[in-house]
Amino acid sequence: MQVNKQVSNELDRAATKSSVAVEYQHPLPPLQDKFGRTFNYVRIAVTEKCNLRCTYCMPEEGVDFQDKEKILSAEEIMRVIQVLANMGVRKVRFTGGEPTVRKDIVELVAGAKATPGVKSVYMTTNGLLLDRYAADFKKAGLTGLNISLDTLQEDRFLRITRREGLQKTIDSIQLAIDTGLSSVKINNVLMKGFNDDELPAFCELTKNWPVTVRFIEFMPFDAQQIWESGEHFTSAETMVRQIHDLYPGVEVVSGTKTEHHIFKVSGYAGKIAVIPAFTRSLCVNCTRIRLTADGSIRNCLYSDDEYDVRNLMRSGGSDRDVEMVFRKAFSDKYVDGWEAKKSSVQKIDISGLGTRSSMTQIGG
Ligand code: GTP
Ligand code: 5AD
Ligand code: SF4
Repeated sequence: MQVNKQVSNELDRAATKSSVAVEYQHPLPPLQDKFGRTFNYVRIAVTEKCNLRCTYCMPEEGVDFQDKEKILSAEEIMRVIQVLANMGVRKVRFTGGEPTVRKDIVELVAGAKATPGVKSVYMTTNGLLLDRYAADFKKAGLTGLNISLDTLQEDRFLRITRREGLQKTIDSIQLAIDTGLSSVKINNVLMKGFNDDELPAFCELTKNWPVTVRFIEFMPFDAQQIWESGEHFTSAETMVRQIHDLYPGVEVVSGTKTEHHIFKVSGYAGKIAVIPAFTRSLCVNCTRIRLTADGSIRNCLYSDDEYDVRNLMRSGGSDRDVEMVFRKAFSDKYVDGWEAKKSSVQKIDISGLGTRSSMTQIGG
């Protein structure tokens, strides 16, 4: 009996040992800025197109989508991921537009996940096409999904997204959970007069669903400029206060860098987070690199500065050239989104790219 126990302990130890992955030693120095921040998370927009028309993002007629040949190919995206992984990038997120409208999205996930050094691959999606892809995403190694859902009311869903699809989105969240992805989150842009009265109902979703419900401050990246009036803005501070009022003594837990405030109601399956996307208190912890669908680096969501990698790659630039343009972009990074915005307003547009007005063009 004793011997058997010993043998079984040895076997357990051996199994644990062999399952501990050897940490990938990236061959290039990490990507850092002059404030000592290290960037290890890349958000890659894979398309500008979308099958919804959310009022806080695009007008009904869409925006000026770029021609297909200007959008990075799968090979180009993989090349950028490889260069970044060699500089220590560990987390990849595909965004858009809506990433699932791109036909090769499963291959992109599989390719990113297979890149040496990449530990996790996520996607931010509206979930409408998930039934087509969930099983393949799981097989391709997708770590998690952030699914946008702003309301639980049919008429409001139509008003906010200008399309049908509430039940489909809810079914997609359930499907993502059932598929066994490691992380499923709900992104809710909380806007005064649109959906702010639904904060309690969304918090209650975490009772039975093992998801993180995230309330996001409305940002001025809506092509129609409904932000401008200030009427629809709800601050992170207000959201946090409401959560404390609803759940006195709610436990503070830990989350990702954007989940600046994060809570767990005792006995509930999921978590509740608040993202101060506009007030920008999260910038000090910034770890993220952005690549637009047409192949420009953005070193901050609030900066208009762009650093081209598409033309560089298409004109025969080497991996070292690609590396150096990322290093340049991040050596120029401002201390926070307020400074980045101030500088963008002061500059004249010499890039010729113009200012992108919608989240779908910047890449969520
Ligand atoms: P996690 O990795 O799960 O934390 O996801 P994420 O928050 O990085 O990604 P997601 O695509 O779900 O983004 C959710 C929201 O966070 C976006 O809609 C933005 O409002 C906000 N956000 C993401 N990146 C930034 C950023 O760099 N700056 C600011 N201010 N907000 C951001
Ligand atoms: N403000 C805040 N979040 C926005 N998103 C799109 N436009 C805005 C905006 N103006 C969010 C979507 C999605 C993520 C990619 O970006 O809800 O969750
Ligand atoms: Fe599409 Fe996302 Fe923009 Fe909504 S926020 S229109 S889902 S890209």
